[in-house]
Amino acid sequence: MEIYLVGGAVRDGRLGIPVKDRDWVVVGATPEAMTKKGYRQVGADFPVFLHPKTGEEYALARTERKQGHGYHGFTVYSAPDVTLEEDLLRRDLTINAMAEREDGTLVDPFNGLADLEQKTLRHVSEAFAEDPLRILRTARFAARFHPLGFTICPDTMALMRNMIRSGELEHLVPERVWQEVQRALHEKSPAIFFQVLHELGALNILTPELADTERFEAGLQALQCISAQNSTTAQRFAALLSALPEPEASARAKAMKSPNDCRDLTRLVCRFSGWLSKHNSGALPPEAVLDMFDQADLWRRPERFEQLLASLACTPHQQHVKPLSIAAESAQGVSPQDLLKQGFKGKELGDAIRNERLTRITRAMAP
Ligand code: CTP
Repeated sequence: MEIYLVGGAVRDGRLGIPVKDRDWVVVGATPEAMTKKGYRQVGADFPVFLHPKTGEEYALARTERKQGHGYHGFTVYSAPDVTLEEDLLRRDLTINAMAEREDGTLVDPFNGLADLEQKTLRHVSEAFAEDPLRILRTARFAARFHPLGFTICPDTMALMRNMIRSGELEHLVPERVWQEVQRALHEKSPAIFFQVLHELGALNILTPELADTERFEAGLQALQCISAQNSTTAQRFAALLSALPEPEASARAKAMKSPNDCRDLTRLVCRFSGWLSKHNSGALPPEAVLDMFDQADLWRRPERFEQLLASLACTPHQQHVKPLSIAAESAQGVSPQDLLKQGFKGKELGDAIRNERLTRITRAMAP
């Protein structure tokens, strides 16, 4: 049997980027031969094995045959006579379809190295179209390598546009889409991911609310700003949707099956942003500020409030962030314990806390 290093590790190695995971392809072997050598098979009908010592993944060379639509209609065909070239042919991009022999020499039937040097993301073959997830992956690689000067070649853009036009994206389940979106939000230039999808006409399907140009541009700007900082997935996602009305953003976050923290923060960012847009030039009324603090549950969720303010600082309402931050800090200083000691109980205690918070907010926000 022959063993080759493949995929991302070869690509990143040639780019001089630290290699995270190494994937291997084995040619000329059967599952029995692998287990005999001590490899452990993972997945029942998928010919992938774990190395007994390193735990790295070794896949038997395979080709894929498509039978139905979208992600479900594949049959994986693997046999000792499947060649390395056949295996590489079914991969997405030429820069991901290079292999290295054990002595480090390159096997590059689809000119991935030339594309790497020309900073081009290019599909390997028409088989690219067998997997609609690759549209999202390609947009994600564009986002990752944008700072290095990579772009998607026009032929690949055209192929992806055709796939989208024939409805391929609709066959992706929300979980897989979210997984790619979540990864994309943490690539080097997350905004590029959405820009590419916008250009391809994919946003009409994935996030129709963002197909509106003005909201999209505002979302991208906010995303660019927040992703230049050390920020969470929730903050980045909320920034992207920050120009939408809360009900629309909330429904989208839910439909995309984003995790609860993403949905919560998105809702809050849009609610605050909608509220602030009504006060764009003027001062914020202290009662309304206290009410918003209550809605954001500032008292029990101070870290989330910090995240909220950082996201708002990336929207057109940033001038309100400093005053809100000062007011919040001041209102958080109210100690229910102290008021309890002063003899307040029940509803009176609640009123006293509220009054004290309001007094402090009013003082903090006075010109
Ligand atoms: N691949 C593919 N089509 C997909 C998923 C994966 O062709 N839908 C191929 C590519 O050749 C890719 C390899 O499988 O290089 C490994 O996939 P994965 O680990 O997801 O990506 P990497 O290229 O290793 O990138 P990353 O740095 O994000 O791990």
